Amino acid sequence: MPILTIKNCLDPVLRKKSQLIENIDDELVQLSQDMMETTLEARGAGLAANQVGLPYSLFVVDLGLEKGTHELVTLVNPVITAMEGEEIAEEGCLSIPEVYAQVKRAKQIEIKGIDLDGNEVRYEAEGYLARAFQHEMDHLEGSLFWDNLGKIKRDLLKRKFKKKLKEKEE
Ligand code: NI
Repeated sequence: MPILTIKNCLDPVLRKKSQLIENIDDELVQLSQDMMETTLEARGAGLAANQVGLPYSLFVVDLGLEKGTHELVTLVNPVITAMEGEEIAEEGCLSIPEVYAQVKRAKQIEIKGIDLDGNEVRYEAEGYLARAFQHEMDHLEGSLFWDNLGKIKRDLLKRKFKKKLKEKEE
């Protein structure tokens, strides 16, 4: 199965609000499997469909994050149904490689969605996994983690990203 190309934050698809998925077909299942492989290969915590160029309401996330294992699941049309507490911790994004920042997130969340068999699923998460879910939800809204920061900090990170990108191109 192919490893997909991850779009970086300069690609306009990262700013698109995702469309709800009406049909879970073989193509979508294949996409999700490829996204899981791509996430593992990139050593990411999760990946949203628009990060591989498809603005669908779907992401994969690694439930094994806090256990030191890998357990990737797919959520279709996810919605965060509860949020509690606050926590500031470091966050990064596969579409903004090598750039990290302290981001404030809810400490605990409940999220609902549909799995690839069409069944309703619900997860409760806290800590790093709760962060990963919120981060992927942001992607589905066309938002990036640095949108949660102030403008000065965000601009600084953008410059840092562009500098790193340029270094790689040279
Ligand atoms: Ni991301």
